[in-house]
Amino acid sequence: MKLCIDTADIEAIRSIYKYYPVDGVSTNPSILAKSGQAPYEVLREIRKIIGEEGELFVQVISKKAEGMIEEAHHIVKELGLRTLVKIPCTEEGYRAMQQLHAEQIRFIGTAIYTPMQAYLAAKCGADYVAPYINRIDNMGFDGVQVAKDIQDIIENSGYDCSLLAASFKNSQQVLELAKYGAGAVTASPDVIRGFVKNAAIDAAVEDFITDFEGLVGPGKTMANC
Ligand code: G3P
Repeated sequence: MKLCIDTADIEAIRSIYKYYPVDGVSTNPSILAKSGQAPYEVLREIRKIIGEEGELFVQVISKKAEGMIEEAHHIVKELGLRTLVKIPCTEEGYRAMQQLHAEQIRFIGTAIYTPMQAYLAAKCGADYVAPYINRIDNMGFDGVQVAKDIQDIIENSGYDCSLLAASFKNSQQVLELAKYGAGAVTASPDVIRGFVKNAAIDAAVEDFITDFEGLVGPGKTMANC
């Protein structure tokens, strides 16, 4: 399962990339707004950190297909071919998706709350489809189950598309999808750090050090004992 970071916080991206095996960075207009920086300025900075090979996800703003297509051209020109354009799964979005697919521009169907939205995006040629797990939960439905249904549709229909589940509140939601064979998830830095935030892990590591130092002396490691 691919793991992406859902943020435009430069320091958080640097820090997560330093410690975790990450595949890319996803953003949306609200995330860019939070950064307080000019959109292409912060996105270029992210591109520098993740390199040419890292996947970067950038969303269009236009509500009409023509505008979405124009934005998609600009996004890819400015940020490189490993940049995937996020297109909302609306009627206009599906029109834009078909044109982008014909032009071989990579895109992701976003703002997904139902499996039917994802089905249509996959059929339009989306590389990824992004259901919003936590937002669906907050509407009184089961976000993880919606994502599982989408994974089933992709697998059973043989679409060349991958689930990129988004909007997570906790690591349990991510784990459920990892167990189910999800293609990818994107989560905030806090949720990613939560994967290994566990007092038992820290205590085990401390105990090993104490025992070893009891044997060979304080500050000693396997490199100098
Ligand atoms: O980009 C969409 C998704 O990641 C939103 O997440 O946490 O704002 O629901 P959140």
